[in-house]
Formats: sequence, C-alpha cells, structure tokens
Amino acid sequence: MKDIFPVRKEYKKGSLSENDLPEDPLDLFFLWFSEAIDLQLPEVNAAALATANKDGCPSLRTVLIKEIDSRGFVFYTNYQSRKGRDLEENPRASLMIYRSETERQITVEGRVEKISEKESEKYFAGRPRESRLAAICSPQGQEIPSGEFLRQRYLDAEEEFHGKDIPKPSFWGGFRLIPERYTFWQGREYRLHDRFLYRKIAGNEWKISRLAP
Ligand SMILES: Cc1cc2nc3c(=O)[nH]c(=O)nc-3n(C[C@H](O)[C@H](O)[C@H](O)COP(=O)(O)O)c2cc1C
Repeated sequence: MKDIFPVRKEYKKGSLSENDLPEDPLDLFFLWFSEAIDLQLPEVNAAALATANKDGCPSLRTVLIKEIDSRGFVFYTNYQSRKGRDLEENPRASLMIYRSETERQITVEGRVEKISEKESEKYFAGRPRESRLAAICSPQGQEIPSGEFLRQRYLDAEEEFHGKDIPKPSFWGGFRLIPERYTFWQGREYRLHDRFLYRKIAGNEWKISRLAP
C-alpha cells in the first residue's frame, strides 16, 4: 500500500465572491456547467446521487443528469433499483458534482418526484437501441449468477425485439430532483475556500449565505 498522506494539493484555480452570485442558483450552476463544457472536461453531467431509505440508511452512486431546467434535475434509472426503492420510501436526495480540474464542487438537495410516464417514454425512445435493450435486460441491483447471464438476457431481448419497436419497461424511468438548497464550493489557497449556500425561501426566492468551507 502506498503512503497516501503526502498527497496534498493547493487549490488556487479560481475564486467566488458575493459579487459573482446571481439571484437564481441555477444561473451559477449553468455558468459552471458551461465552463466545464468549454474546457472539454469529460462526463460533465455525471453526478453522485445520495439517497436514504426510510430508516435513514444512506446509499450513494453515480448517475447522469439528463435534463436541467427551472423545474429541476432529471436522471433516469431502474425504479426497482436500490435508489428507486429508497426514493419510494423517502423522496429526498442530494446530487453532487466535484471537478478537480476547476477545483469546484456543487451540491443540490431537494425533494424527488417521478417524471410522467410520457416524458420517460419520450426519453427512452430517443436512446440508442443497445441502451434500450440493456435497460430491459438488466435487473439493476439484483444478484446475478454471472456476466454471461446478463449477456444471454441481452441476446434474448435482441432476438425478441428484432425488427420491432422496443417499448419502455414500466420499471424504468426518470426522477426529477426539485432543488431546495444548493452549495457552491471553489477551492482557495491555504484551505480558505469560498463556499456559498442558497436556500429556497419561497417561489423562486433564494437566501444566500457564505459558509465556512
Ligand atoms: C459514469 C456513470 C454513470 C452512470 N449513470 C447512471 C444513470 O444515469 N442511471 C443509473 O441508473 N445508473 C447509472 N450508473 C450506475 C450507477 O452508478 C449504479 O451502479 C446503478 O444505478 C445501481 O445503483 P443502486 O443499486 O444504488 O440503485 C452510472 C455509473 C457511472 C460510473
């Protein structure tokens, strides 16, 4: 095992001041998101998604954020997966994006709702055929005997739907996280990082405060 304690880094790529903060946190999210795209950073829409079951037991995984607008952040998944079951029991979640290239972290917290079947169907229909087949044949989160088992299920689905339309399975679809809190963290020298919290007060009114990092 390598000694990991010497791994230290100074954060000095940017700063975030009160003057940089728009009233609507989504504007800052979009600004940082577009800067990541302009820098051609990989997988800019990948985020850690934290959920918890009804007993408060947390779980975490990466998902791809597929739609972002004033209504919230949409990701797609298997509703029978652990995250799907957590959200059924406890419809609250947090998304987190950390980019070491820009030394920035964004978190978004809020309530989560299933999007409509119609919206999920529309998104599903636009996915590549292989992704649609994979969604159908993967019992996400369940124990399976082998990789071969999954590949066989894929081949079976390919045969079943050969030359046919692949309908969205009922266990697959989107969730929308409706933000109530955001934090924006920009790394600074000497660990004196800039960090701001946006808390939703009412409608689209947000209270901004600077937090100790
Ligand atoms: C880069 C990346 C992107 C991913 N995107 C998704 C996604 O959009 N939806 C999804 O259900 N799983 C996605 N996964 C897989 C999840 O991280 C996770 O393994 C899976 O959803 C099962 O999670 P659960 O058992 O906690 O529900 C992604 C994984 C990685 C590494």
